[in-house]
Amino acid sequence: MSDHTDITWTEDVRPTRTRPGRRSGHGPGRATGPGDDSLPGDPDTPTPEPDTSPTPESDTTPTTLTHTTPWHSESGLPAPRRVRVVDDRMKADAAYRLVCEGTALLWRGDYQGARQLLTALGRRLDRLTPKPGATPAETFHRHRQARGHRARVLGMLLVVLEDDHGLALRRAPDVRAACTEAYGPPRHRTIVSLRELLGVIGAHEWRRKGVPIPALDARIHPHYGVFSPVRGEYVDLVGDAPLPAARGAAFDLGTGTGVLAAVLAHRGLDRIVATDSSPRALACARDNVERLGIGDRVEVVDSGDLYPAGRAALVVCNPPWLPARPTSTVEQGVYDPGSAMLLAFLDGLADHLEPGGEGWLILSDLAEHLGLRTRDELVGAFDAAGLRVVDRHDAKPRHPRAADTTDPLHAARAAEVTSLWRLAPAG
Ligand SMILES: C[S@@+](CC[C@H](N)C(=O)[O-])C[C@H]1O[C@@H](n2cnc3c(N)ncnc32)[C@H](O)[C@@H]1O
Repeated sequence: MSDHTDITWTEDVRPTRTRPGRRSGHGPGRATGPGDDSLPGDPDTPTPEPDTSPTPESDTTPTTLTHTTPWHSESGLPAPRRVRVVDDRMKADAAYRLVCEGTALLWRGDYQGARQLLTALGRRLDRLTPKPGATPAETFHRHRQARGHRARVLGMLLVVLEDDHGLALRRAPDVRAACTEAYGPPRHRTIVSLRELLGVIGAHEWRRKGVPIPALDARIHPHYGVFSPVRGEYVDLVGDAPLPAARGAAFDLGTGTGVLAAVLAHRGLDRIVATDSSPRALACARDNVERLGIGDRVEVVDSGDLYPAGRAALVVCNPPWLPARPTSTVEQGVYDPGSAMLLAFLDGLADHLEPGGEGWLILSDLAEHLGLRTRDELVGAFDAAGLRVVDRHDAKPRHPRAADTTDPLHAARAAEVTSLWRLAPAG
């Protein structure tokens, strides 16, 4: 996701006597200068200003280069209107003032210095903890607003990704593989926020290492932007619930990494069809199915709809648990505006089940503790869809945030229970 706006910025560079070779776009200390290559058609062609071209006698005279570089933000943050080029001389307090006023900082110094500055800005923002609201729902909305503000302000520290997705900053890691996974093949230079880039690097590490899934006795490798099964309790619920007696295929709706489809295959089901509306999730699920060697049993389909064609003996669905608007693509696995996916699953279930089949809804009651949905509304939605509850299996979350007393949503998180609702047609 990006708003395709260009950012124009300038930098003073000192030419070197020997023309540098073809840049690698990563690694320490690349000098950018008039001898630097720009590919024909590259939207980021540097434009030397007139009258400042170096001469052989004055080859240490800085040259001011003007660049026009496309902005890219996966989370859809708009391109900043004002940009100042900064380096290691920038102090944290001055930087904080500038970003709070809406001036983005394009970092051209040492990479580790940029990370330290981001941490320092984060510490200043952490002091702005919102006051609790009069209701849990108000506290939740204030908390989200504060998180959104934090993301916008921290998103103002920018770096240039070179035309091979590399970083040309001193002491920078090689981020090319991580960026190619998240952004696709490089095409030209782009400006991204350092915060987003750190997320891309973190996702690359998760994808490389994988998340251990005890119910599978294997690892699942999440891709950037795909809901990661780090909260094991809901996966165990699917691993342990009694399978329906009915025979036939199983559907996994909103498969994400493919983890639940894989658990069903691990339990011996031999035909599972998995869907998702996110192209990243579909690619990720296919990757995991292939890694696990279960491609003969799990088919990942781009059905264009929540349900694939046909009927199943078991339909599993773990919709995003909170009925609120996602503010980025990365949040689409967490927030389900108006409970749209939940209701679409319930409304379609009876028509997609074989006789004797079951639908398994995996849902935490966090939304109830936050005052975003009531239990009566949930049960009312079952009734309205012509469904009855066969049974319910509960689990307490084990993730560390449930025990974090400094979390403004601690009371709700501490009370949270994750349930697997076994549903069947009422009639
Ligand atoms: C909470 S995640 C669950 C992922 C995975 N099933 C798991 O349990 O780890 C919800 C998933 O539903 C997908 N999703 C959201 N709305 C959808 C829709 N209308 N149709 C299909 N998939 C959808 C999201 O892309 C996301 O991968």
